[in-house]
Amino acid sequence: MSKLFYPKDYKFKDPKIRNQKELQDLYDRFANDFEGTWDQFAKEKISWLKPYDKVLDDSNKPFYRWFTNGKLNVAHQCVDRHLEENKNKVAIIFEGDDGKSDVITYRKLGQKVNRTANLLTNEFKIQKGDRVIIYMPMIPEAIYMMLACAKIGAIHSIVFGGFSAEALRDRISSAAAKLVVTADGAFRKGKSYMLKPIVDKALEIGCECVKKVCVVKRNFEEIVIGDKDVIYNDLIDLQSPKANSPLHDSEDPLFLLYTSGSTGKPKGIQHSMGGYMLWAHLTMEWVFDLKPTDTYWCTADIGWITGHTYAVYGPLSVGATTVIFEGVPTYPDAGRVWKMVEEYSINQLYTAPTLIRTLRQHGPTEPEKYDLTSLRVLGTVGEPIDEETWLWYYNEVGSGNCSVVDTWWQTETGGHMISPLPAATPMVPGSATKHLPGIWAEILDENGKMVTKVGEKGLLCITRPWPSMARNIWGDTDRFVESYFNKNDFAGNMIYFTGDGAFYDEYHNIVITGRVDDVINVSGHRLGTAEIEDSVNKHFYVGECAVVGKPDKIKGEAVFAFIRLTEPCDEKLILKEINIILKREIGSIALVDSLLVVDNLPKTRSGKIMRRILRDIAKKEEVKGDLSTIEDPSVVAYIQEKFKEKY
Ligand code: WTA
Repeated sequence: MSKLFYPKDYKFKDPKIRNQKELQDLYDRFANDFEGTWDQFAKEKISWLKPYDKVLDDSNKPFYRWFTNGKLNVAHQCVDRHLEENKNKVAIIFEGDDGKSDVITYRKLGQKVNRTANLLTNEFKIQKGDRVIIYMPMIPEAIYMMLACAKIGAIHSIVFGGFSAEALRDRISSAAAKLVVTADGAFRKGKSYMLKPIVDKALEIGCECVKKVCVVKRNFEEIVIGDKDVIYNDLIDLQSPKANSPLHDSEDPLFLLYTSGSTGKPKGIQHSMGGYMLWAHLTMEWVFDLKPTDTYWCTADIGWITGHTYAVYGPLSVGATTVIFEGVPTYPDAGRVWKMVEEYSINQLYTAPTLIRTLRQHGPTEPEKYDLTSLRVLGTVGEPIDEETWLWYYNEVGSGNCSVVDTWWQTETGGHMISPLPAATPMVPGSATKHLPGIWAEILDENGKMVTKVGEKGLLCITRPWPSMARNIWGDTDRFVESYFNKNDFAGNMIYFTGDGAFYDEYHNIVITGRVDDVINVSGHRLGTAEIEDSVNKHFYVGECAVVGKPDKIKGEAVFAFIRLTEPCDEKLILKEINIILKREIGSIALVDSLLVVDNLPKTRSGKIMRRILRDIAKKEEVKGDLSTIEDPSVVAYIQEKFKEKY
């Protein structure tokens, strides 16, 4: 049996869920009165500007509608409503790459958001429902822009700054965005880097929809100013610091966020205003024990869902202080994160296992040098955390006193689904433990039957709707239903399929085994195998390829390619050239780590590559599952042998 780690009571003064009994009571409340319990939390946590008339409208499954006809304004929820009591409280601490910090109070944030909202309306003629692409570094202006969009009801879609011009173009075009907001560039590891030229390139190769580009000057390097470009810094102070908070519907889209699926085309996941905000707020309080008096740091970039829910919307809704960091956690040394924790007296730290592994590798004793006693909760997200890394985080960073919350969730779920509660749940290294109250997570077998036996693997599904669930895939409703709800109605209920495999441990905790679909998780970043393969196949000498995730000590998974060439070539050279293509088409996050040249790939008789076989080979696991459809069974042993020789 794995060891259980019990929360240290003295760390938690007044947690929302104090102990296991209170947790059980809350589960029971949801079980006995599902809508009534959501109703109570929605009334308590959201400042509705007009009350809703129904908690849940499930008349058109799986297009659930929450808090129907309720009106709110997300910028009011996250900023304006705090002004009366807390106007001079710090909303954001921004630390630049150079270590200089800037403190932004709620009052200042409110004014910035209003000026930015006025800029969007007056200068860029952005209206409710228009899409705005944000392609920016982690600087406060990016957050002003998010909240300004939310204020006027424009739909933001943030594209991670590591994506290439081509990937950016695809997302801009898919969203048919009118405006792109970017920066000249920013700073990383003491050096200046550029973003604006990537936007220029994206617009050069497509994106007729874009009317204007708003450029925030950050590094003040020289940029080409075209007809569409408008400099934010020249105009922002001319805007009024006052703006109304128009009423938006609970179901109006708050943002789109593109993420990888099992085809080459990224999916624009669409989130709502009311339901999303409720769950962002509640999980901040439940999972992080966040109080308005806390200083909290989520290291995720706003280009990912974690940066949306847990660096911006969640902490600001609660009225706490959120830390935003421009730089790289290992620069100038592996103590940077711990130095910041000490300096700002951070209470909750939320990061990815990859970063913890990296910091541990580069400075296993660095945490000792800093005063980290302010910490109460240590969070992880994005990929499974191995026991060794968990223990280092718990013992060396948390001194054995903090609760570690291993939070499982996805872009599509909007917020945490499975996680320990810091004052209530006994922790097990490597397990996200149990579903949160209000969430029905189940493990189902291929036939939709519930898995109950310890250790039996199945598919992780969510069997009841929840407020922050994705509402649609932008412009592709059929794909939304097909991707997530095609296992619907085994028992007349809607079933959301997560794409992850899981099993129960001996404590009935859920252990996530990773994706069972064609998605790879590199350093907690989601990449679609099809997206990568499309690019690899563009190499002149690549006849065919299949990419899978190969276990990696630091990154969790690394991209591994099985390739059939049309001409004999030097493997090292091919790898280099393939990565040039990938960097251009997707970005540096999608590079192939290593490859194996093979004469043949395992295929079904209808010619589909059987990637799951290659996945098992790359993991050095026994090849499992049904092999009856394979065209040539000898391929499996052949590739296994070749793989063993090289890796
Ligand atoms: C994986 C990130 C294990 C999982 C918030 C999921 C995890 C995918 C965990 C979603 C965790 C996320 N343990 N695996 N605690 N958290 N994952 O959309 O495979 O970028 O399906 O959202 O990350 O990635 P996404």
